Amino acid sequence: MKTIRTIAELRRQVSEWRGQGMRIGFVPTMGNLHAGHFALVELARQHSDRVVASIFVNPTQFGPNEDYARYPRTPDSDIAGLADKNCDALLLPSVDEMYPFGTVGCVQMHVPGITDVLDGAHRPGHFNGVAQVVARLFNMVQPDAAVFGRKDYQQLQVIRYMATEMSFPVQIIPAPTLREFDGLAMSSRNQYLQGDERQTATFIYQTLCFMRDQRALGLPIAMIEAEAEQRLTMAGFSVDYAEIRRSDLLRAKSPDERGLLALIAARLGRTRLIDNLEFDAG
Ligand code: PAF
Repeated sequence: MKTIRTIAELRRQVSEWRGQGMRIGFVPTMGNLHAGHFALVELARQHSDRVVASIFVNPTQFGPNEDYARYPRTPDSDIAGLADKNCDALLLPSVDEMYPFGTVGCVQMHVPGITDVLDGAHRPGHFNGVAQVVARLFNMVQPDAAVFGRKDYQQLQVIRYMATEMSFPVQIIPAPTLREFDGLAMSSRNQYLQGDERQTATFIYQTLCFMRDQRALGLPIAMIEAEAEQRLTMAGFSVDYAEIRRSDLLRAKSPDERGLLALIAARLGRTRLIDNLEFDAG
């Protein structure tokens, strides 16, 4: 696997592959890779001849009081893991390479509507930062296909809208959420969990299943959401949201609507966890 640090070097490599008629798959990450990320690389491989991954902890998607400084950075084990998965190239850019004019006065990206709800409401500016860095990465890598996990469902939708509207010639491929044996969705932030918090964290997935099952019994969505929030609070979470929405993330209007999604974001101590579960209304 080639480790590439500059856009010029990346362009050279990608155009060489393109010249040979190869299709390029892309897996953007913030590093601290786990089995969930490696599954994205494997999925990218199924859709392409060469796989490029990137590791960049993007400062513009973190709020002022968020975990940018302490976000786990483990480049050595990440490089070894990607090489083991036969990733072909790793883009490891510096902040200056990504933002040559700095992160403040630079070109912004905003996807309206979908970024105003759920995580967008609780993490102002977060999705602008995600859209901004993903647009830059797409321009740099120029992939044919890019893989994003369903665990960050709202992020996936923001990127889908952005790619469509900006006519990026990239196929966006959603990847299923990988879970630990007890249902906890894999996430780099799970390692922040201290002591009993790791066990308590499984309650998020249990509550998502509860929301799905209550909906299958025909209970009203507002009642299910209130009950879910109460259960999470009783278990020790500080809840940002526990909601049921249509899969386009707008509110479900009719009780028999198909393609629904239960979504939770909640804090346990210093750790903010998100997860979601897709289901049919019945
Ligand atoms: O999901 C992530 O790891 C990040 O939000 C992404 C897509 C790599 C952009 O920084």
